Amino acid sequence: MATIIAPSILSADFAHLADEVKKVVDAGAEYIHIDVMDGSFVPEITIGAGVVRSLRKVTDAVLDVHLMVEHPETQIESFAAAGADIITFHVEATRHAHRVIQKIHELGCKAGVALNPGTSLSAIEELVEESDMILIMTVNPGYGGQKFIESQLGKIHMLYHMIDEMETTCDIEVDGGINAETSVDVREAGANVLVAGSAVYGAADVAKAIKDIRGKEIVHHHHHHDDEEDEDEL
Ligand code: DX5
Ligand code: ZN
Repeated sequence: MATIIAPSILSADFAHLADEVKKVVDAGAEYIHIDVMDGSFVPEITIGAGVVRSLRKVTDAVLDVHLMVEHPETQIESFAAAGADIITFHVEATRHAHRVIQKIHELGCKAGVALNPGTSLSAIEELVEESDMILIMTVNPGYGGQKFIESQLGKIHMLYHMIDEMETTCDIEVDGGINAETSVDVREAGANVLVAGSAVYGAADVAKAIKDIRGKEIVHHHHHHDDEEDEDEL
């Protein structure tokens, strides 16, 4: 699995969003990560479905919507209609995560499930099979520019093995404090979708920043077949 770079427009200039999106797509980014905050699940209020609808008209890039909202089940319909490709919600924000995944799929989008740093993998074990992506937060959600939380590396690695053992496919996204240095650790641990806000939009040379975060391809060693040396390039 090749690494996918998802710049977060949270760190972009909101007065020039179309240009800010074009800038990172021209620089090689595959996804545009859109941080939706409701002032309740997290303190700030950021972007609504109307902004997604406008961005849909100006880019063909994958719109990766990260819902940091309470009761995501009440919001997914408008974000799907607005043109989101991937809708990720927090497992902490709903009682019926499995149903939310089903609803996202019914609306024709890919479904992601996010975990706060304090939430254990057991919360999503029964959801991995249904999910297209699991988002491991490497900061507490709410703000750009925070420091990467090292303890999440073990969790990423455990998730990577969980997915491998289930013999299913599921992207592992990481979000928070990702830069050229932390990128190496999260990719080694098994993450393949890397969100970066300040490290991309704060850089003088955005193309170089994206290239540095993407880094060199990492070869993972699979373990699920004990009887054979199973070495896959991801
Ligand atoms: C944090 C958001 C992130 C944020 C990342 O709550 O979910 O997507 O924009 O910003 P950086 O890359 O600056 O940590
Ligand atoms: Zn995010």
